[in-house]
Formats: sequence, C-alpha cells, structure tokens
Amino acid sequence: MKNFYLTTAIDYANGSPHIGHAYEKVLADAIIRSRRMEGVNCHFLTGLDEHGQKVQETATQRGMAPQDLCDLVAQDFQKLCSRLSIAYDDYVRTTQLRHRTVVQSMLLRLHAAGEIYKAPYRGLYSTRAERFVLERERVDGKWPDDIGDVVELEEENYFFKLSRYQGWLVEFLQKNVNFIIPSFRQRQVVEFLKEPLNDLCISRPKARLRWGIELPFDAGYVTYVWFDALVNYISAVGYGREDFFRNWPADLHVIGKDILVPAHAVYWPIILHAAGVELPKQILAHGWWLAKGGEKMSKSLGNVVKPLDYIDLYGPDAFRYFVLREMAVGQDSNFSHELFTARYQGDLANDLGNLLSRLVHMVRCYADGRFPTAWPAGPEELQLQNRATETIRLVRAFYQSLEFSSALGEIFSLLQETNRYAERRAPWKLAKRASCERELETALASMGEALRIAAILLTPAIPTAAQEILRQLGLPAVSNWLDLAWSNALDGKVVGEGTILFPRVEEAGALSPL
Ligand code: MSP
Repeated sequence: MKNFYLTTAIDYANGSPHIGHAYEKVLADAIIRSRRMEGVNCHFLTGLDEHGQKVQETATQRGMAPQDLCDLVAQDFQKLCSRLSIAYDDYVRTTQLRHRTVVQSMLLRLHAAGEIYKAPYRGLYSTRAERFVLERERVDGKWPDDIGDVVELEEENYFFKLSRYQGWLVEFLQKNVNFIIPSFRQRQVVEFLKEPLNDLCISRPKARLRWGIELPFDAGYVTYVWFDALVNYISAVGYGREDFFRNWPADLHVIGKDILVPAHAVYWPIILHAAGVELPKQILAHGWWLAKGGEKMSKSLGNVVKPLDYIDLYGPDAFRYFVLREMAVGQDSNFSHELFTARYQGDLANDLGNLLSRLVHMVRCYADGRFPTAWPAGPEELQLQNRATETIRLVRAFYQSLEFSSALGEIFSLLQETNRYAERRAPWKLAKRASCERELETALASMGEALRIAAILLTPAIPTAAQEILRQLGLPAVSNWLDLAWSNALDGKVVGEGTILFPRVEEAGALSPL
C-alpha cells in the first residue's frame, strides 16, 4: 500500500530558523498526525537546501567551508524540529550523495531527451533571488525586496525547454482544479501563465558559483539551485528504485506562498512531466506570519520572532497551539505577543489545564483516585455527551480539510461546555451530601470522558500535552481515533498525581519587543 507522502519546503542553510520555518513544520506535522490518527500510513519528509550562492557567500564571510556551515545550520534546524516534536520520517540534505545522484540522473535524462540546450544569455541577474530577472518584475520602477540588487551578466548557459510545456501546464491546471490549494492560489498561477514563459536557465558557471551539483554533461558548470532543491522530493524517496512508488507521487507538498510561483507551480510540474515522472497530487501554499501591524518580519526592522524564545518560555505545545489556532491555513496572520499570551492563559491554562488539575484533584479527593462508573445519564449528561459526539464528527472533518483553526475552536468549545457542566453540577458540593453519591460519580465520570475525547482530538496539535492528559486520566497513549466515541473507557482507571500543564509564565519581558 502506498503511503500518504507529505513534504515541506527544504529550508535555506544560510540563516537561523525563524517563525516561518517553525510554522511550516508544525502545520505539516499536524497534518501527518491527523492522518495517522485516521489509520493512514504516512511518510513525512523535510530537510535542508544547502547549495547556492548565498550559502557560499555566508560561509566565506564566516571564514568557513560551506559544508561546515551547512552542518552547523542543519543542527539548528533539527534541534528546532525536535523541540517542536516534529515527527518526520526522513530529513534530506541536498549535499547528500543520494540526492546528488538523482539530480544528476534527472539532468542526464532530460539532456538525452533533448530537453536541455546550451546558449549564450545576457540578462539582469539577482544574487538574492539567484536567478535572471526581467524588467517587468520591477515594481514602481524599483526591484522588489526578494530580488534586491541586480547586475548585468552575459554568459553561456544550459537551458531547460520550459516554454514548450506552457500549453500543457495550462491544460493540466484546467483539468485539475484542486492541484493547488487554497483555490485563489491556483487562480494566481493561471494568471501568471497568461504571459509567455521563457526557458529556464538551469546552470551556473563554476567561475561564479562552485557550491553546487556539477552538471553531469559539462564539468564547467553547477546546477541551478532551484532545480537541485525541487528534486529533493523524489531523491529522498529513492527515485529510480523499485520502492520509490511506495511513496511517490507525493500527496501533498506544503510550502509558503512566496515559493509557489514559479518554482513549485511551474518549474516543478514541468520538470517532472518532461522527465516522465508522475506529478504530485496537491500543493498547499500557506500564508505568511507578519509582524504586529502587518509588516513583513525582517532583521533590519528588528521585528523577527524567534520561535525558540517562545518555545523555551511557554513550551512547544503552546507554540504549536498558537500558530495552528491563530492562522487560517492559506491566509496571512500577524504574530503578536498579546494574542499569544491571551491564547496561552485563556485557552491552554484556564480552559484545558485547570479542567485537568481540578478533575484529577476531585477524583483523588472524592473517589479514592479511581474514576467511578457513570450512572444512567440525566439531561445534563446527555447534553454533554451529544456535544462530544458532534465534536468528534466535526473535528475529524476539519482536520481532513486542513481547517486546523476551526478544529481547535470546536475542541475548546467542548472544553468550555465541560467546564460549565462542572460549575453546574459542582461535584465539591455533591461530595458533602451522602445522598448525592450517584450524582457525584456520574459528574466525575462525565467530565473525565469529555476531557478524554478532547485530549485525543488534540493529539495532532499538541501531542505532548495530549498524551500527558491521557496519562493523568490513567490511560495509555492512543495511536488512532477510528473508534472514538463516548464510552466508559475511564471506568476504574487510576488517575495520576496531578499536574499543571500550562503554568503561569512570569518572564514575558525576556522576549523581543513585539
Ligand atoms: N530553500 C527554499 C525552498 C526550496 S523547496 C524545494 C526556501 N527556503 S526558506 O528557508 O527561505 O523558506 C522555507 C519555507 O519557510 C518556505 O516555504 C517559506 O515560504 C516559509 N517561510 C519563510 N518565512 C515565512 C513567514 N514569515 N511565514 C510563514 N512562512 C514563511 O524558500
């Protein structure tokens, strides 16, 4: 059986991880974990994009060999992943032999098929974007930030015959209207394809750039970094080997909106099609995290969010929860300290954390530390039970359609409903009256059951906290939610010692000013 194969963009090895990198990993991880909870076998790939001019320049500035720089950066990025509990199956680095071999075999194949030719080229080159740019890309007469300074260059290079596939791609997108999600992104690609495509320059002379994969048919050149990078999606799963098809075609490429056009939506499908490789099934282009006020985060503005600061202070699950709850997938969002702390305090510490600690405390005080069996449900319990059943249905559907913010919203309304139920039933009052023993037992069992369901549904978003909740309720971790329903799973289970899941954080001043 083929795996559900998901990839993220591979991060550039010339900087340190920021919120964009962290968000994309969390989003991808939540998708994978929700698929696994549905019982689907998955393969999750992420990695590092190590070649290119910027890496070469940064290494030179720091007086290091490029590979040494990449090794250091790889450690930083992997550390971020492990802090965030990113459950990837494979981490690809474009300097690995397995990757280089596949890049070269793709190039040989395209060259042999007459898809690559050599020609002189004169044009305007952007070091920042690492590509030749066109006059029409100026905005109000100026080069935009992602292009930066340009210089005029003339050199012989190798070109991939991209333009001859323009008609094919347009037709493909017409037939596959959900190839790119959200759908407004697919429409942008269709718009982009209304202008004629140029062939793609896929080489860089070694005189200008040494840090790349050598062209297999001309040792004077290295491969253009985007051609190199995109191929990671097939090199990492063994393109050319029998078991390649255990994963390929990819089910979902998760990327940011800035690298959709032209790289993922134009170059990648055409490269694959020309090489006779099946296309990925879908591309998800997520939005960007912006600084408070909607500005782009940039080092020069001093408004870059360092995810590790937040993770260190509030914990990985708090960070995961915040980014998944706050950003509607596909849209941009502002990162603000106030919003972060409001979510932390309101949702995580109060609605969820307090419910768990109160409940464990009550089971220990009033039921000898074991969950009692519920008596036949009254109207209050039935209401909670129906609500939980509906939540399971809605949340599974929201996860399936990648609506994480709505999924989490639903789970937290169930938690709020459970807290209201607790207030109404007031087990601490029932405990004082011997005649109310049954009501007390039913109340504790019902609160526990609602919390058990919420914890299981929270697993893709906050896996560590979810598992800790189950442990405190006396249950093992769960690997899927296929049979999840209101039940008596907690009967007789021994609760844990009690814990504060999301403690009060005092050192908020330690964070960068946002
Ligand atoms: N190396 C290329 C990708 C090659 S994929 C074959 C690259 N790297 S990157 O490090 O610049 O970006 C990695 C991912 O982070 C991209 O998907 C990018 O969109 C995402 N983000 C970078 N900044 C971001 C935000 N501020 N917000 C959300 N995601 C953003 O591009």
